[in-house]
Amino acid sequence: MFIKVNSMGLRGVEPFLVEVEADISKGMPCFDIVGLPDAAIKESRDRVKSSIKNNGYEFPLSRVVINLAPADIRKYGSFYELPILISILKGTKQLECDVEDSIFIGELSLRGDIRSVSGILPMVVKAYEMGIKRIFIPEENSLEASFIDGIDIYGVKTIDQVILHLSGGRELEKVKHNKKFKKDITYPIDFSEVKGQFAARRGLEISAAGGHNALLIGSPGSGKSMLAKRLPSILPDLTFEEAIECTKIYSISGMIDKEMPIISERPFRSPHHTISPAGLSGGGTTPKPGEVSLAHNGVLFLDELPEFSKISMEILRQPLEDQFITISRVSGSVVYPSSIILIAAMNPCQCGYFGHPTRECRCSSNAVSRYLARVSGPLIDRFDLHIDSTGVEFSDLSSDKEVETSLEIKVRVDKSRDKQIERFSKTKICFNSRISPGQLREFCILTDDATSILKRAFENLCLSARAYDKIIKIGRTIADLDNSDDIGKTHILEAIQYRSLDRKYWQKI
Ligand SMILES: Nc1ncnc2c1ncn2[C@@H]1O[C@H](COP(=O)(O)OP(=O)(O)OP(=O)(O)O)[C@@H](O)[C@H]1O
Ligand SMILES: [Mg+2]
Repeated sequence: MFIKVNSMGLRGVEPFLVEVEADISKGMPCFDIVGLPDAAIKESRDRVKSSIKNNGYEFPLSRVVINLAPADIRKYGSFYELPILISILKGTKQLECDVEDSIFIGELSLRGDIRSVSGILPMVVKAYEMGIKRIFIPEENSLEASFIDGIDIYGVKTIDQVILHLSGGRELEKVKHNKKFKKDITYPIDFSEVKGQFAARRGLEISAAGGHNALLIGSPGSGKSMLAKRLPSILPDLTFEEAIECTKIYSISGMIDKEMPIISERPFRSPHHTISPAGLSGGGTTPKPGEVSLAHNGVLFLDELPEFSKISMEILRQPLEDQFITISRVSGSVVYPSSIILIAAMNPCQCGYFGHPTRECRCSSNAVSRYLARVSGPLIDRFDLHIDSTGVEFSDLSSDKEVETSLEIKVRVDKSRDKQIERFSKTKICFNSRISPGQLREFCILTDDATSILKRAFENLCLSARAYDKIIKIGRTIADLDNSDDIGKTHILEAIQYRSLDRKYWQKI
């Protein structure tokens, strides 16, 4: 007897339909699972067998072969236990019902309880896109799936519940659609705590508004880490689509909060510099997303940048260029999204005072060169904004003057983001930092004054073509913050300031 039940598998964040085929025929009793299953799936046999027996059903004394199609993609995880069980019960006529338009996902316990699995959200989204009518998932994952509308979702606790529902015994309640994905976010830290550092604060405001990568460089204790950690408090809110994209990644990583299983604030990931390259990029035998993907639609903050390994730093180049990362394994390659704002902080040398206006640097010029050379030129080039954060003045630190709060900055950031959403409504991009060279002419119109200033700067400062593009894009964001359609003289002048660090430090070595 041949039976087919639908389920889903995951390749990266991309789910795919898996047809669980059961062939139950006469012969020596055996129970095999084929179709490129990993070791964990092979263990499923015992759980399926015990669940069937412990719930008063019979496991057939025949030759049972389960095939997970398509057979050319490796299958991971324990999603297939529920569909395998359903296919066996149908194949032995212990369950008679039509399951053509349904998908089953779930891990079993020996007693027949259905346990939660990782990666439910992307699978429910895919099922909806494929036009599947109903999906059976573990009850514990219901809240996570409830953000998706347009498909009947059933959260099930035990195999008895599924069987009773399918055989018309007792109907299960559908999971109610959850519309509220935003929680009230309050940040324990605020920009009002940062005294002075006006240029650095402004730099981060521009970075948040236009999605620009920024490098903070300055002496120890000048507040670089302090500033960067406050960036999430001025970032624009996540849209629903962005929240779902982020949640998909956290869902397959098993990092979803049970109480609030949707990522509702922009991720801010701050890995330690000892992180392994695989931890940053993602990987492992069952490839899992790394920090560059966990920071998708948010910020990846690398504090003490030169301390990261060379390989880790070079890994960042592809995602910064393409907004995704490809991880290749023997079993195939997976692609994880990684559209990030990269913020990094560093000292200019080992002692930290190279280029300081008042304090003397104790490092030899060779030592400074070696220190700066730890960060490669191509990586430095990927930072749109170079923010110089030299020390704070005593008068600023001791002053009682009210400092602008994160909320006040966020109002400006939000307004400029609205302008960008409108501007890019017919394109695939959404931030100024993503404007392609071909789009520069269309979206970045400079006034005559601004053009002549940029021309002079290009010639006198020996800027590269990449720096030229970046200045225009930063100018675009500064003009947006100023609610101006054209990029004017003051906007370009301010933008040029943020390309000065590679001259101040890297050109000296
Ligand atoms: N601008 C500032 N306003 C108020 N406090 C500040 C400022 N800058 C530094 N501080 C104080 O100094 C502490 C150290 O700052 P922070 O760790 O951000 O420095 P850093 O630049 O990252 O130094 P390092 O190069 O050693 O990592 C902060 O926790 C804060 O208490
Ligand atoms: Mg620091």
